Amino acid sequence: MSLLQLKNTTIRFGGLVAVEYVDLTIEKGEILALIGPNGAGKSTIFNMVTGIYPPTEGNIYFSGEEITHLKPYQITARGIARTFQNIRLFKDLSVLDNVKIGCHNHTKSELWGALSRLPAVKKEEAEITDKALACLELTGLSKKRDELAKNLSYGEQRRLEIARALAAEPKLLLLDEPAAGMNSGEKVSLANMVREIRDMGLTIFLVEHDMKFVMGLSDRVVVLNYGRKIADGTPEEVKKNPDVITAYLGKDGV
Ligand SMILES: Nc1ncnc2c1ncn2[C@@H]1O[C@H](COP(=O)(O)OP(=O)(O)O)[C@@H](O)[C@H]1O
Ligand SMILES: [Mg+2]
Repeated sequence: MSLLQLKNTTIRFGGLVAVEYVDLTIEKGEILALIGPNGAGKSTIFNMVTGIYPPTEGNIYFSGEEITHLKPYQITARGIARTFQNIRLFKDLSVLDNVKIGCHNHTKSELWGALSRLPAVKKEEAEITDKALACLELTGLSKKRDELAKNLSYGEQRRLEIARALAAEPKLLLLDEPAAGMNSGEKVSLANMVREIRDMGLTIFLVEHDMKFVMGLSDRVVVLNYGRKIADGTPEEVKKNPDVITAYLGKDGV
């Protein structure tokens, strides 16, 4: 059974078909890249998988369970977390607080304010802090824990988004253009970090334009063009595919 399966997935916005009859699977432990020109529907696929925009047609399954019409928080609870193409952080909060917000059990104790003096709540708070610190360690941001998010470099902010997504303890991690705006050194360490996260047992689904990054990191690549899937294979297969070269890569390849 695939970890994630999209079956005939279609979404229309008014008259525009953003994603059309896409079939796609991700196996547990894979690093799968979704590539294609701007406007091809890549982020929209992430939005459907995470419940932001349910598909107009088709079905989405996670670990065999249909999640097509679940709410975003229900999908997060089942083990899917993401980052966004446009960084979404609480810029005036500390790095540590941004990650604590990602911990999915952070509202487990109701009446938080009133009860916050009780020992059980104190213990939960400590557990959340420990978990958030572990996520910062993994993303190389431990030393920045007390900085405000807005004072981080662009590359560090992208890592912080990953740390926050990891705090939800996902099985499947969706990364929307994680290397955008990074320099080549930052990209190399990002690729190493993504591999490390996969080796810890997670599955990675990423959208990225940097073909060197994509082809070096991914086990499999899916290509989208005008909302339709035009290729699905290993990096070597996809690089040689004439349809992909015409639609996206260009004849010089990568
Ligand atoms: N909420 C929305 N309302 C209307 N159109 C949308 C919406 N979200 C995405 N689209 C359209 O769907 C198409 C695919 O967008 P997107 O998934 O963001 O592309 P990509 O991430 O591949 O660059 C674009 O034409 C975009 O304008
Ligand atoms: Mg996008």
